[in-house]
Amino acid sequence: MSDSDDDVPTLSAHTLAALQEFYNETRTDADHSTAPSDQFTVGAVTEDWRMSQFWYSDETATRLAEEAIREAGEGGRIACVSAPSVYQKLKQGVVDGSDRVSAFVLEYDRRFASYGDDFIFYDYNEPLSLPASVAPQSFDIVLADPPYLSEECLSKVAKTIKYLSKGKVLLCTGAIMENHARDLLDVKMSSFLPKHNRQLSNEFRCFVNYPSRLSSC
Ligand SMILES: C[S@@+](CC[C@H](N)C(=O)[O-])C[C@H]1O[C@@H](n2cnc3c(N)ncnc32)[C@H](O)[C@@H]1O
Repeated sequence: MSDSDDDVPTLSAHTLAALQEFYNETRTDADHSTAPSDQFTVGAVTEDWRMSQFWYSDETATRLAEEAIREAGEGGRIACVSAPSVYQKLKQGVVDGSDRVSAFVLEYDRRFASYGDDFIFYDYNEPLSLPASVAPQSFDIVLADPPYLSEECLSKVAKTIKYLSKGKVLLCTGAIMENHARDLLDVKMSSFLPKHNRQLSNEFRCFVNYPSRLSSC
């Protein structure tokens, strides 16, 4: 053996075995993370605060998905406008009746394009710039969570909601938007308190324009 061979660090059989086990486990985790069932987990797409992304808690996403299914009815169509967690919960296969509705996600963040034809690119600054395939009044319920707490943002999102909805509207936004929400969409505050994965400084609420079971829970 030459001097240079002596310089090559060697590992004991025990250390090598431990390393191999670590690599195997890492590969297994990676395989799991791309499994279809994980694709729809709330938080599968990480929050990007530059896009005002604050995901609902799993429990809130579930409650909103249940509400949307109940109100959309058998074979109903649900639009999730800037509310990808509810879309994910509807597609995760964990909420009763989710296989009997169609759900779409209207989003500015193109990472959600991984959901294929269910993804519709949406920028609230162009409230009616939607693909021709999105027919007016074609959704049984529209659930929206606008990115900003401003009248300007809500009034533009309200245009989109009115274009999409056959009638039912479920708006989640800051409690401070109550008057604007009522004036723009004729919605009333429900007693349901949506929760987020992180503590937000603003009080959040849900607003509806139909008799909702959200208020009774
Ligand atoms: C306050 S978050 C609502 C998310 C909701 N809490 C959830 O868990 O699904 C606002 C959403 O608006 C989206 N957004 C950001 N900029 C937007 C824009 N210009 N037009 C439409 N949506 C936008 C964000 O990607 C984000 O999903």
